[in-house]
Amino acid sequence: MRVALLVPAAGSGSRLGYTEPKALVDVVGVSLLRRTLERLAAAFTFVETVVLVPDEALSACEAALADAPAGLGLCVVRVGGATRQQSVHEGLTALVGDADIVCVHDGARPLVPAATLREVIAVASRCGAATAASRPIDSVRIEEGERTRALDRARLWLVETPQAFRRELLERAHATAEAEHIHGTDDASLVEALGQRIELVESAGPNFKVTVEADLLAVREMLRRESCPTRR
Ligand code: CTP
Ligand code: MG
Repeated sequence: MRVALLVPAAGSGSRLGYTEPKALVDVVGVSLLRRTLERLAAAFTFVETVVLVPDEALSACEAALADAPAGLGLCVVRVGGATRQQSVHEGLTALVGDADIVCVHDGARPLVPAATLREVIAVASRCGAATAASRPIDSVRIEEGERTRALDRARLWLVETPQAFRRELLERAHATAEAEHIHGTDDASLVEALGQRIELVESAGPNFKVTVEADLLAVREMLRRESCPTRR
């Protein structure tokens, strides 16, 4: 099994609200993007990796990844697009090798559990398409006209990354989405639009996305505890 990795990290991080792009924000001594890449490379050996970054941060990200972890394989940095979907599309077109599985993981999810990454890739190679997901903690309601209605939380999943797909499926999904002006918030929804079933892999630990400042503070604290387990 030959697996390529795409890491969309081209967003500005507007909800985080820092002047520097989210990918370059410090997380205990290294950038958020590098943290995420080190985590991925420690868990799996990819044949090649394309990292998508903001135009204005291209040289800073290239410098930060000059000595990329070996597990990423051939690693290149490219400018992403205006939306996450366009960034992933750019990444797909930049692949040069013959990987048969493509894994997509947000640069803003630095805690991804190793077991979850491996399981998502294994399930995708067996079944075609898989994503990490978690159960909601809060009760959830849906808007229906003027009112709202409670949903059965036991049947709901929050979709995360990593997501992995047979390469041909992901390429076809993006080509179809572009031709038919379909916009999805993740790649699984684009692949699902082809009629492909998406398998869920429950995340084996916290895998939240750094979106607002409280997320960043939580990630920093978790990583400090990981490196110093007696700390409470
Ligand atoms: N992303 C990307 N290209 C874009 C937009 C987002 O590669 N044009 C990436 C982000 O860098 C991030 C992931 O997609 O790793 C998930 O997006 P999100 O958390 O929304 O990040 P931002 O778009 O940067 O944040 P915000 O929406 O708050 O501006
Ligand atoms: Mg965004």
